[in-house]
Amino acid sequence: MTGELSPIDRAKFVAAKRACDYVESGMRIGLGTGSTAAWMVRCLGEMVRQDNLKITGVPTSTRTAELAQQVGITVTSLDEAKWLDLTIDGADEFDNDLNLIKGGGGALLQEKIVATASDQMVVIADVGKHVEHLGAFPLPIEVIPFGWQTTKALVEETLIGLDVLGRATSLRLNGDAPFVTDEGNFILDLHLNRIGNARQLSMIINQIPGVVENGLFIDICDAVIVGHGDGKVEVHDINAGTVEEERIDIAENANLFSDL
Ligand code: 5RP
Repeated sequence: MTGELSPIDRAKFVAAKRACDYVESGMRIGLGTGSTAAWMVRCLGEMVRQDNLKITGVPTSTRTAELAQQVGITVTSLDEAKWLDLTIDGADEFDNDLNLIKGGGGALLQEKIVATASDQMVVIADVGKHVEHLGAFPLPIEVIPFGWQTTKALVEETLIGLDVLGRATSLRLNGDAPFVTDEGNFILDLHLNRIGNARQLSMIINQIPGVVENGLFIDICDAVIVGHGDGKVEVHDINAGTVEEERIDIAENANLFSDL
């Protein structure tokens, strides 16, 4: 079945598959959210069912929790697990320093809490997510619903003094209604085009009352595994300072997910 995947899904799949090499029995694993992370959850489920892998997963969203349970992964809360060995998650953009924009799927708050409570964060992404400068992807920020329009105006005013190319902001919608996060909050998407100083932006945006968290992940990610449609993966390791290329045999995994 994986042999019939589109090139983008093959890229996501091989990145997810390679990330599972970081997982060992007994680990507590943060389970990210999004289409790439969903491949990782399915791969881990396969390892639990076929290889008797013993792991406990801490999902970063209700949809990941549902999928993890479906594929046979034992899930628990972060409060129960307390600290995690590893988090594997997707990203919307990453740069050469492995700083990220996340939150395209609206789960940035739980994702950031879980990744920060992990010894290691490994990001899985298709090659299209690699950028020179963060910011072409709109930066999501989670805001509380109370007074969100005032918060939005304050964010726009704050952006005037910051090193960004665009300053438009928009409320994320789900149909005609605001998109609501798992925490009951709203998301503002900041159309910045190019972020000159991501660390400064992240700190200043989080000072605005009403802003809960932003989607910039600075100095959190340890490695990014980049998948290509032909089965090639690049492993970018920020601590070792290396980029290594490998290949995943997609045909060898063709029996995976045949139930999907
Ligand atoms: C969800 C996220 C996702 O990891 C990010 O949006 C990437 O998603 P996908 O793998 O579907 O491209 O941050 O909040």
